[in-house]
Amino acid sequence: MKVLKNYKELSYVVADIVEEQITKHPLSKLGLPTGSTPLGMYDELVNRKLDWKSVITFNLDVYLMNINHPQSYQTYMRKNLFNRTNIYPDNSHFPFRPFSAFEDKIVDSKGIDLCILGIGSNGHIAFNEPGSSFDSRTRVVELSEQTREDNLRFFDSINDVPKQAITMGLGTIMESKKIVLMANGVNKLNILNVAMNGDVTEKVPASILQNHDNVEVLYCDK
Ligand code: PGA
Repeated sequence: MKVLKNYKELSYVVADIVEEQITKHPLSKLGLPTGSTPLGMYDELVNRKLDWKSVITFNLDVYLMNINHPQSYQTYMRKNLFNRTNIYPDNSHFPFRPFSAFEDKIVDSKGIDLCILGIGSNGHIAFNEPGSSFDSRTRVVELSEQTREDNLRFFDSINDVPKQAITMGLGTIMESKKIVLMANGVNKLNILNVAMNGDVTEKVPASILQNHDNVEVLYCDK
């Protein structure tokens, strides 16, 4: 695990990794996260005015809710990245039904070259909650109470926080050629240590990353 000085540096370093990927390989396929942690990285990428016209993106997960809701991940991505770059709308994908077709789309595009992940306070990656099978594929999931509590900050009340989501599976994510996990805040330190140094177990979904041979974990405490 690499510890960065602060959030600005974390955002900068992950933006560097994305920039290098899409500059060297304009036809790159990226797996992209949502949540608070990647916001600085998206701002940094937008400021760099990179060429996204041949890049293909696959978002990791979406809430099961109206895609035009202000808190939908489709809205988040439009607002924070897609509407601020020259990415081609048909090249940005969110998990869709039938899920086998979404999985086929990833495979047909020759797989995800670089997947950026956050980590939930319970060790989830994308919305693969504790107990998710290491072989899991894209599917509908129930969000854990912990995740709904964590995400309450984006909604008016707990009743407004979606109960279900669609997420890429752990098996899907692990097929990415390179994975970068970014985490910000001391509240993530304990689960990061458990995930990276503890047992590889379905109780801690992020621990599966120990089985991937090209993972970078980047952390800052503030
Ligand atoms: P956060 O979410 O970046 O909002 O902390 C991370 C996650 O749940 O994957």
